[in-house]
Amino acid sequence: MDALTALHTRNSAPSLVEPAPGPEARDAIFTAALRAPDHGRLRPWRFLIVEGEARGRLGERLAAVAAEANPGISEQESVKLRNAPMRAPLLVIVAARLQESPKVPEIEQMLSAGCAAHAVLIASHALGFGAIWRTGPVTYLPGLNSALGLEESERVVAFLYLGSIVGELKPLPQHAHGDFVSSWEG
Ligand SMILES: Cc1cc2nc3c(=O)[nH]c(=O)nc-3n(C[C@H](O)[C@H](O)[C@H](O)COP(=O)(O)O)c2cc1C
Repeated sequence: MDALTALHTRNSAPSLVEPAPGPEARDAIFTAALRAPDHGRLRPWRFLIVEGEARGRLGERLAAVAAEANPGISEQESVKLRNAPMRAPLLVIVAARLQESPKVPEIEQMLSAGCAAHAVLIASHALGFGAIWRTGPVTYLPGLNSALGLEESERVVAFLYLGSIVGELKPLPQHAHGDFVSSWEG
């Protein structure tokens, strides 16, 4: 698939099953991710691969983080979090590794990590796999980093779910460019 077709046709895939991208596809996917624009060449990215039984352990940790922040969490919400990682055979957690820099503010490092996450989505799609970017409130809870083994200076920007698509995807939304694009002439 050529680059423009991949960019024009990416569509989030909420229902994902085996097979997940294998070693060769992962190579291509992470090569794409590591081409994210990166001010100051800080390489402000970290990717955690979660698959197999580790997904169950991730779900337990997410539920524990949510319960720590809100001891009154409902059983329904807790079960949802425990099961969330089982929605795809492969998860890629993308974190921004924020670094002190006199010329690259945190926002730029976060954006760079977001671009890397987008590259994972596009590359997966170009290879014929489905993917979806998810977060949810647990992403921003203070206990998440230690639950995932991340440093305090890191910020999770995406839980990317990857696998093979089942079912129909939604029609691609058709946006009018004019609603978003205009000339700025000073
Ligand atoms: C930072 C970020 C976080 C997101 N979190 C969620 C989420 O938690 N759950 C969800 O269903 N979609 C989430 N989305 C939206 C989906 O990834 C996707 O963009 C949306 O379903 C629309 O599909 P489309 O992008 O293929 O048109 C998130 C998107 C971004 C950029």
